[in-house]
Amino acid sequence: MKKPKVLAISGSTKQQSTSLSILSYIKETFNDTLELVIYNKLASLPHFNPDIKEADLPQEVKELRELILSADGVLFCTPEYVFSLPGSLKNVIEWQVAATLFSAKPVAIIVAAASGDAAFESLSLILTTIEAQLPNSSKLLVKGAKGKISAEGSITDHALEAEIKKVIGSLIQTITSGANVATKYMD
Ligand SMILES: Cc1cc2nc3c(=O)[nH]c(=O)nc-3n(C[C@H](O)[C@H](O)[C@H](O)COP(=O)(O)O)c2cc1C
Repeated sequence: MKKPKVLAISGSTKQQSTSLSILSYIKETFNDTLELVIYNKLASLPHFNPDIKEADLPQEVKELRELILSADGVLFCTPEYVFSLPGSLKNVIEWQVAATLFSAKPVAIIVAAASGDAAFESLSLILTTIEAQLPNSSKLLVKGAKGKISAEGSITDHALEAEIKKVIGSLIQTITSGANVATKYMD
């Protein structure tokens, strides 16, 4: 069977980022079962502007939409900044709302932060509002994330490795089940 293709989006623009380290770990560890493409243009994506007509979309936005469209699933891994999602990641999502690209798209989220509750809630709410498929088993909140990653970017916490494995397993299951149903948001 063909490996599912998953677009991975890190919410951090930092070079030595905790979120990017987690995504790199996933890419390497699950290489046999998953084709993970890490999006690397977050920092250069233009700001969302509702005045820009669909016919005049910037090239960067068209490229990103194509990546989302051609992926079997999308994996977000993000820090929390000032009790919310990083602005750069919110910008990615704002560009997609009108296009309904996330409707029934299998997604998984990992929030890797000091605490991260607000970003976790917010990203869950946003993605279910835009009708993604996001079962609870595809959501992971990693508290104290920096302490679980070494300076070289490896995961040093075995419990975290096991939790990541579960989330990725759930994402693959959502993709392969072929259920075309959006998840309802539950508080
Ligand atoms: C400007 C700024 C604001 C932050 N605000 C929060 C916050 O509100 N809640 C939280 O849990 N962590 C907060 N943090 C900590 C980051 O979430 C944490 O250090 C994370 O691991 C950084 O991820 P990154 O290396 O992928 O950018 C903040 C960090 C920065 C730089």
